Amino acid sequence: MHFKESIIKTIEKRKSIRTYEDTPITKEDLDKINEYMSIEDNLIGPLGKKIKFHLIKVSKNVSEKGIKVGTYGFIKNPKAYIVGIVENKNEALIEFGYVFEKLILFLTELNIGTCWLGGTFTRNSFEKEINLSTGEIIPCITPIGYMTEKNRFFDKTIRRIVKADNKKPWDELFYYSSFEKKLKKGEGDKFDTPIEMVRLGPSASNKQPWRIVLSDKKDVCHFYLEQTPNYSGNKMGFNIQSIDIGIALCHFELSCNALKLKGNWRIKNPKIKLPNENTKYIMSWESK
Ligand SMILES: Cc1cc2nc3c(=O)[nH]c(=O)nc-3n(C[C@H](O)[C@H](O)[C@H](O)COP(=O)(O)O)c2cc1C
Repeated sequence: MHFKESIIKTIEKRKSIRTYEDTPITKEDLDKINEYMSIEDNLIGPLGKKIKFHLIKVSKNVSEKGIKVGTYGFIKNPKAYIVGIVENKNEALIEFGYVFEKLILFLTELNIGTCWLGGTFTRNSFEKEINLSTGEIIPCITPIGYMTEKNRFFDKTIRRIVKADNKKPWDELFYYSSFEKKLKKGEGDKFDTPIEMVRLGPSASNKQPWRIVLSDKKDVCHFYLEQTPNYSGNKMGFNIQSIDIGIALCHFELSCNALKLKGNWRIKNPKIKLPNENTKYIMSWESK
């Protein structure tokens, strides 16, 4: 395992960073990132699909190959981008969320700032930089660079626009036994912390589409996606909210590992009555 600090502390510390320091990323840190991205285990999630990563160094938004790559002004002073590539299938996108978020947490531990970008970047120029195979897409990228204390005003403005600090409370996200009974903080028993770590996750436009139903015996957590109706983020040719679910699975599993709560992912629909037509079952974590 690559995580040295407690993963729970890292999840609590992570937030989207959009303005970076002038200091370039040190060779030591670049080596650590390249090593992480070369390990097979770090490229695969619970569904067994493989994700590819590419690191593109930039100077004034121009890559080493001379291609102009940009982010419509949302990102200031990035030192490089990490680009993720995957097949355009729903399952693969869930996997993408899991694997890319694990990388983001690894970077957070190195004190490197990141920001998931799915909409606000010039996808074409990144596609030019990388040779995609048929059926592959770049769902998201992240700029990287050291976090800066300066220029927080710009970051704060964007955070206010996307209501980034507005994380939904437990009673809007988590349930016990059925969708009729809300789960309160402190009632999740051993899963209290892993569930809270799901709540703190990043999501596209901060929509937080994850829902969890804790089983009667409190030994299984069923994960659901409540798709946001008419959300523009889902109209870019792939379902961006599948990625959000992958992020939730990642936070949950890594927190269970840290707490030594043994378990497995399993796709076994408990056929719980759904609250609306936008909600669909994804998978369950079963205690061992
Ligand atoms: C799949 C995905 C796509 C995102 N796309 C963008 C984007 O295009 N532009 C942007 O500024 N932020 C983007 N974000 C960042 C979210 O706005 C951010 O995670 C959310 O507001 C919560 O804030 P936090 O990450 O600081 O907790 C994206 C996040 C995710 C998970």
